[in-house]
Amino acid sequence: GPEVAALVASRVLDVPDFPKPGIVFKDLMPLFADGTVFRQVIDGIVAHHGTGSFDVVAGVEARGFVVAAAIAYATGKGVVPVRKAGKLPRKTYSASYALEYGEATLEVHEDAFVAGERVLVVDDVLATGGTAGAALDLVERAGGTVSGFTVLMELGFLDGRKRLAPRTVHALLTV
Ligand code: PRP
Ligand code: MG
Repeated sequence: GPEVAALVASRVLDVPDFPKPGIVFKDLMPLFADGTVFRQVIDGIVAHHGTGSFDVVAGVEARGFVVAAAIAYATGKGVVPVRKAGKLPRKTYSASYALEYGEATLEVHEDAFVAGERVLVVDDVLATGGTAGAALDLVERAGGTVSGFTVLMELGFLDGRKRLAPRTVHALLTV
């Protein structure tokens, strides 16, 4: 609800010109570092999705790992990593996506999911949607059924949500 959104808003630090000139980096580390706030935020996500709508949580490296593991633990589910290229040890599917300059690649193990397993995909921030689009494609290619995509914060002006349509996005806070 609005209380959790306000909590997220109160703990985001805007860092100008990181990682590149002209980009305002949204730093959620102060939120993660505060145990009371972190628990309230995770509980807010769990309250939205419930525990019956997904079988496993997929987290997007790196900041999505923090959120995904906490949701998985809170709901008694497992957690699957969607990693940056070259980090996973076994056979993977990979998907590339555009960054501000150049491109990046995410990977998931080919056997990460049982066919039809319902997967809640988690990241910290939705910006342009490039990362999320790649992660959602990978989960489906690996046999998962995406039951939801959730972030703590969405940068609405970058239209990531439109890019991901018809998939839906849940964000605790939209700025
Ligand atoms: C940040 C953030 C999201 C992504 C959102 O990750 O954690 O994953 O950008 O941007 P997009 O919607 O425009 O794709 P980043 O690539 O900085 O890596 P990190 O999580 O490993 O720090
Ligand atoms: Mg990230």
